[in-house]
Amino acid sequence: MLDLIIRNARLAGDKDGLKDIGCKDGRIAVVESSLEAKAKEEFDAEGYLLTAPFVDSHFHMDATLTYGRPRVNQSGTLLEGIALWSEVKPLLDAEDIKSRAHQLCRWAAAKGTLAIRSHVDICDPSLLAVEALLEVVKEVEPYIDLQLVAFPQDGFFRDPQAEELLVRALDKGVHVVGGIPHFERSMEDGSRSVTALCELAAERGLMVDMHCDESDDPHSRHIEMLARETSRLGLQGRVTGSHLTSMHSMDNYYVSKLIPLMKEAEINVIANPLINITLQGRHDTYPKRRGMTRVKELAEAGLNVACGHDCVMDPWYSLGSHDMLEVASMGLHVGQMTGQAEMMEMFRSVTENGAKTLGLEGYGLEVGCNADFVILQAKNEIEALRLRPARLRVYRRGKLLSSTPKQSATVYWGDVTADVDFTL
Ligand code: FE2
Repeated sequence: MLDLIIRNARLAGDKDGLKDIGCKDGRIAVVESSLEAKAKEEFDAEGYLLTAPFVDSHFHMDATLTYGRPRVNQSGTLLEGIALWSEVKPLLDAEDIKSRAHQLCRWAAAKGTLAIRSHVDICDPSLLAVEALLEVVKEVEPYIDLQLVAFPQDGFFRDPQAEELLVRALDKGVHVVGGIPHFERSMEDGSRSVTALCELAAERGLMVDMHCDESDDPHSRHIEMLARETSRLGLQGRVTGSHLTSMHSMDNYYVSKLIPLMKEAEINVIANPLINITLQGRHDTYPKRRGMTRVKELAEAGLNVACGHDCVMDPWYSLGSHDMLEVASMGLHVGQMTGQAEMMEMFRSVTENGAKTLGLEGYGLEVGCNADFVILQAKNEIEALRLRPARLRVYRRGKLLSSTPKQSATVYWGDVTADVDFTL
């Protein structure tokens, strides 16, 4: 007897008709069409799309849901956001950080996102946020995989205490080494920070994920050093360049050299479309640059490209509900990726490509994978991107974690009453 069977689901990435998924002991035990077995609990997906959970590869859990504290970022710029964050930080305490993180994780679960990589600012001698979020990692583990990156937000060398604090954060159990080379005082300091941080990760057997070249300056080229150090230290596949917005503005000839270097180092790329379309190009009049990294070209070159939400209602971004389909939708619009294969790639950028970046184990819809999945009120991935529909059911380890009723409108059209659900 199985624990759970989902019947008549259209599996993401599978074109062979409807399938039934049987789960036992928190794992997927069988995937078949017309499964004969019985289970304690069954659910009919009615032909709707079933996908492995959404993955948010880049987030800031310490700052989220602080909108309006102590004031709102009126200009919407990165610089006002940084100034505002330094006003928010002294107001935080552990309980506040934890309760906001739990609230955000519940939002994520309701939207079908069951893995989040969050950067945490380590430039605070008390490491308040690090300790609070390490507790949250354990508390949400039954529901969400939360991975933390030690982020020297004020600069690894620029903040005189950051080097020591970052090591302390790693000693406490933070999972990934962060960095922010473009924010150091000079290009040379930025390069040295990349080397020092990659060496630290290599010594400790950790992954790396740096905020890298989040700038409109085409000469911000720290990604080159990140790729070089990744190859030199044998860290291929374990290093991520987040944002990489300067690539938007770089000279095309230089990029034709850079992308193969990144490929050689198997760099994971994370774009944050909602945030970078908002923050970049602010010094431009017109034409105004979009400022998202070259998602289409990087994916075409075979790099693993994921997307992150980055912010929800914090000093840098006043909007958001933590919906990874909104992120992918913005990404495909900004990157002009409206071809079918390109839209499918953007769906993967918030699912399996994110899982690869985070190194998640047991992710997917094959037999033996964790019984974690989401049923959407859409017939396929492209319809999901178009409608950003209700997440009808979200399962974690074979147990129901969230449910949302089917959504439709009733239109009173003269003598006709019509139900509208925006499908053809
Ligand atoms: Fe970020």
